[in-house]
This record gives sequence, structure tokens and C-alpha cells, in this order.
Amino acid sequence: MKRPEVSVRGKNVPRSAIRKLVPFAKDREKTGVKIYKLNIGQPDVETPVEFWEGVRNFKEKVLAYAPSEGRPELIKSFVQYYNNLGFDITAEQLVVIMGGIEGILFAVLAVTDPGDEIIVAEPYYSNYLGVAAMAQVKFVAFSTTVECGYHLPDKAEIVKKITPRTKAMLFASPGNPTGCVYTRQEMEMLAEIAKEHGLFLLSDEVYREFTYDGEFATSILQIPGTEDCGIVIDSVSKRYSACGARLGCIVSKNKEVISSVLANATVRLSAGTLDQVAIANCINVPDSYFKAVRQDYVERRDIVVKALNSVDDVVCRTPKGAFYIMAKLKGIDTEVFAKWLLTDFAIDNETVMIAPGAGFYATEGCGRDEIRIAYVYKAPIMKRAMEVLCAGIRAFRQKNQSAS
Ligand SMILES: Cc1ncc(COP(=O)(O)O)c(C=O)c1O
Repeated sequence: MKRPEVSVRGKNVPRSAIRKLVPFAKDREKTGVKIYKLNIGQPDVETPVEFWEGVRNFKEKVLAYAPSEGRPELIKSFVQYYNNLGFDITAEQLVVIMGGIEGILFAVLAVTDPGDEIIVAEPYYSNYLGVAAMAQVKFVAFSTTVECGYHLPDKAEIVKKITPRTKAMLFASPGNPTGCVYTRQEMEMLAEIAKEHGLFLLSDEVYREFTYDGEFATSILQIPGTEDCGIVIDSVSKRYSACGARLGCIVSKNKEVISSVLANATVRLSAGTLDQVAIANCINVPDSYFKAVRQDYVERRDIVVKALNSVDDVVCRTPKGAFYIMAKLKGIDTEVFAKWLLTDFAIDNETVMIAPGAGFYATEGCGRDEIRIAYVYKAPIMKRAMEVLCAGIRAFRQKNQSAS
């Protein structure tokens, strides 16, 4: 008998770096140790009542397919959302997608052929790598650093990465894992490069609502001259704390891009009907909801930054967006550290789970002394989690010092 074999492509899709430590956490939990999970971006913020109202108001007797481009009421509500922001968008310029990650895949498929290249800023959202593997394209990274708050380097550093196979640049602002919000000048620089070199700009704007200290996330849609090259990937996962709704949209003024995205959307038939109805009603979520959420996140962020800065040889800058912090723990191999926290360390029977930095880099050896923390717990819990983490950093250093 001959055994069938999984394809090289199938084998090469990377497993999420963030979830690699899960088995260790599960084993430890079985021993009764409490684990603060600072490793994933699942917020604890309540989904607004308008979503549930939308669910209750659904009166159709058959849960039918939705149109591939999205239900009309959701498209209408997205158009209104962009118009409220002052972006001049029409219904024909957007396609409803099943979350930002499907949007990234469809956008990448729309602008590349296998073997093409996309330029990205490192560190980046680790699932981008999975998309690259699925689309069989190469992500070519340039570096950003904790010392510069992960802002973009000079134009020349980015341009240097362009080859005849480069088709696009993909970036997120506010960023995951960095929390960095690009300035308008940075967005203009990216647009300038795109226009000069005939590249697409895939702008992942899923954290648009999450900016702090008076910062504002400039959209690629606000930069003049990006009508042909600009593609926005948007999502309601974080905006309405509705990760499970699996909805978002792709916005572009380039008709060919929208036509290609729509073709892919047609292949997967439809996004969830009930979720679309419920999210359409979220256009009625008042500004006070977002204001309260932002305040909450600022409080959590400040707890994390203060705690990290109280430990020697830890470098972090106060991020201005999203709900993540990257920090450099000088001299610590964070893959080893993150595992050790789960297997060996605890204070008062509690430990933490963090994401090691290397998983957010493609370049070998980069990010090995960095960690990412998602501040997804309420302030008092976050405070305790950071006490445990900081004690862990000190204990790990002490252990290594005594061993050497
Ligand atoms: C930068 C970024 N883009 C896209 C996504 C995908 O989110 P979703 O598919 O839930 O919209 C995430 C999720 O954490 C993210 O952090």
C-alpha cells in the first residue's frame, strides 16, 4: 500500500509563533498554577450592546448565504463609518471580508504571482508569514528598532530592498507587535516610494481606533495620489471587540484590485450572514464607547511600561497605539525565558505567558532578546501580571548569573 503525502506547500505553512508555547501552559495549568496570558491579542473588552441588538433584530427564517461582496446593510454601514471619518468612499470601493487576515490574503493574491516579493517592516504580525506561505510569495524585511520606537528608517533603507520582483509593501499602523503609530510623514514617504517604483501599498489598519496621547492613525486613504496603489485592510475584530464575528473589509479605489478581491470572495461564497447583520448595527455604537475603551487601554499600557522600566536592562518605549508592547530584555534569550516561565517559575503559584520576539521577525537571529506583551487584562490584573513577569525577569537573570 502506498501512503499519500502532504504537499511541500502544505507542510511549509508556519504554525503561529504565539501559540507554540500553549502545550507547556496547559501542562502547568494541570498542576494548579495560574497563568496570566499576555501572549495573545484577545481583548477582554465587552462587545457593544449594539451588536447583540443586531442579532436579536434578525428576523429572517432561513440563514441564507450573503452576497459575496457583503450584505447591503453592512456595506452601507461601512461606507457611513468611512464618511464619518472624512474618507470619501463609495460602496463599489469596498468588499466585505472574513476578518483582516482573509483581507491580507486576498490583497496579496490580488497583487502578486508566486515568487513575487512584498516588503515588510520587521517586527511584523506573525500571521503575515503564513499568508506569504499560502500565496507563495517572499516577504523581504527591513528592520525597525525598539530604540526608535519601531518607526520607519530612512527612505533609502526601504528602497534598497526593492527588486524587479517587488510588487507591494505591507505595513500596519498602529502596529502589532510594536504599538507604533506611523506619522503622516511616514505614510507620505511610503506613498512616495510606492508611486516612484510602481508598488501597491497594503495598509493594515485594523487598530485604527486604538491610538493614545493625542496620536492619530493616518490612513493611506488620506494620502493624496494613492488612488491606484492604496489598499486598506480593515477589521471589526478589535474595533468592536468582535474577533469572533470574523468580519472586516478591503477598501481600494483601484477597480482592478476590487475586482480581483471580489473574485476571491466569490470562491468562498459569503461571509457569515448573522454576523454581518449584527456588525451593521454597530454603526450606532456611540463615541463614548471608544473613549472609555481608549482610557482603559492607556491605563493598562502605563502599568506595563512603568513595570518594565523598573527592571534593569529592559528597554521599551511607550507605544502610542494598538494594545501591545515590545521590550528588549538585554542578555536574555527570550525563547528560553518564555518557556522557563511556564515550566519552572512561579510566585505564589502564579506565572505569565509571553510571546518571544523572534516569532515576529523573518531575519534569522533578530528579536531573540525581545518579548511582546499584549495588555489585554483589566488594570488590576495587568498590575499583578506585571509584578509576576518582572519577578520572573529578575529571577531568570539571577539563575543565569549563578550558573556562569
Ligand atoms: C496587525 C493585524 N492585522 C490583522 C489581524 C487579523 O485580525 P482579524 O482577522 O481578526 O481581523 C491582526 C490580529 O491580531 C493583527 O494584529
